[in-house]
Amino acid sequence: MNIVLLGPPGSGKGTLAADLIRLYNFEYVSTGDIFRHNIREKTPLGLNASEYIHAGQLVPDHVTIAMIADHLKQPRTGSGILFDGFPRTVVQAEALDRMLMQMQTELHMVINLVVSKETVVERLSNRRLCVDCGRGYNLVSLPSKVPDICDQCGGDLIQRADDRPETIRTRLEHYRDSTKPLIAYYQEKAILTSIDNEGSIEAYTQRAADAIAKAQRMGKWRP
Ligand code: AP5
Repeated sequence: MNIVLLGPPGSGKGTLAADLIRLYNFEYVSTGDIFRHNIREKTPLGLNASEYIHAGQLVPDHVTIAMIADHLKQPRTGSGILFDGFPRTVVQAEALDRMLMQMQTELHMVINLVVSKETVVERLSNRRLCVDCGRGYNLVSLPSKVPDICDQCGGDLIQRADDRPETIRTRLEHYRDSTKPLIAYYQEKAILTSIDNEGSIEAYTQRAADAIAKAQRMGKWRP
């Protein structure tokens, strides 16, 4: 089953993805993670993408689509693909439809995470990341055992450059103008399910699992 997670910055896409992978053994494709990996490794793609990401803007469609097309050439692992952060524009959504068709599969489900702007700002301003291994923390909901030190590798925890208040505002504007139109795009294809992504991580993971179970019952799961 191929699933897209749709939702504003900080809605919990990455957090939910980790639980869904554990539950369903999906292969994970996160454009944000791939870009950040390339920025850390200082590749030409990373150098190109970093100025857009640090400014809270979307990386141009042709760069993002080429990166995903390249990624999808790798042999498939897992029970399906879970896309986090891709597509983010209608042009990317159309490209994904074509790529999946070439792979003789399709997109089965889009889970749209609904949260308030206040929740987004609170979650993002408290998020921290390990500079070395990239593991995520949250000062309020998921603190490290020792302040500012990664539990996993001992690396320093930092705030993502695009999690500063002024950049969060820009990212939310891009979400509203470029990504939100995808809700109508997928509603028309009758594969969109919206879930309330407020409250605890356990509660929203259960809501997503219920939505996936419903899609399974409707025959959308073809392993
Ligand atoms: P990306 O990394 O995809 O950023 P994003 O979509 O803005 O999403 P985030 O990673 O900020 O948030 P999330 O929804 O995953 O929330 P999380 O689970 O971390 O992309 C970064 C940039 O790359 C983009 O701005 C753009 O420049 C570029 N880019 C990426 N894809 C692109 C594309 N397709 N086209 C063009 N450009 C692209 O949760 C947030 C925090 O909240 C965490 O600290 C978490 O621990 C905490 N939290 C989560 N749930 C709860 C809860 N229930 N209670 C309390 N805390 C919680």
